[in-house]
Amino acid sequence: MGDDPAEPTTLVVMGVSGSGKTTVARGVADALGWAYAEGDEFHPRENVAKMAAGQPLDDADRWPWLRAIADSIGAAEEVRENQVVTCSALKRSYRDLLRDGHPSVRFCLLDVSPDELRRRLESRRGHYMPASLLDSQLATLEPLGADEPGITVPADTDPDGVRAAVLDALRTGAGS
Ligand SMILES: Nc1ncnc2c1ncn2[C@@H]1O[C@H](COP(=O)(O)OP(=O)(O)OP(=O)(O)O)[C@@H](O)[C@H]1O
Ligand SMILES: [Mg+2]
Repeated sequence: MGDDPAEPTTLVVMGVSGSGKTTVARGVADALGWAYAEGDEFHPRENVAKMAAGQPLDDADRWPWLRAIADSIGAAEEVRENQVVTCSALKRSYRDLLRDGHPSVRFCLLDVSPDELRRRLESRRGHYMPASLLDSQLATLEPLGADEPGITVPADTDPDGVRAAVLDALRTGAGS
């Protein structure tokens, strides 16, 4: 994936809060020299305020956010740019929206145990996602279907190990 300039790849690094999306996506983008986009930055202001208040987002809140990410994927495809994007993309319907009309999209689901997620979120500072939202995120997560392009990467291990596993999967074309 990503070797043919005529066929760009968009790697959507996904999973619940604390699974390491931002950490891994930055590392993968740096290693490959690909563009990087942070999905959190596409949230409308109202969504950020809701999350900061500890309220889970509902689907009506999420559609404009997902459409904004999808638009940015389309823009990268237009200029044939390889890109790594973070987006929790917890439900199949969200992922279908991102993929619709965008053949470059491959998903990478970071699979982290609930205990490790809690540890990470409790030690994290300066971020708007409180640990109390984790349970609703885990309940919402729909694993990747066999017919979805992408891979699930065990991600309880250290960031370097997770990044290496993702790069390896990209290199071997796993899940494409
Ligand atoms: N593989 C890892 N091992 C241990 N800690 C990690 C690992 N990856 C990330 N972390 C730490 O866990 C916390 C969450 O990571 P990160 O912010 O990358 O997750 P995220 O999935 O982007 O979360 P969010 O959805 O809330 O943006 C951070 O403090 C980060 O430094
Ligand atoms: Mg993040």
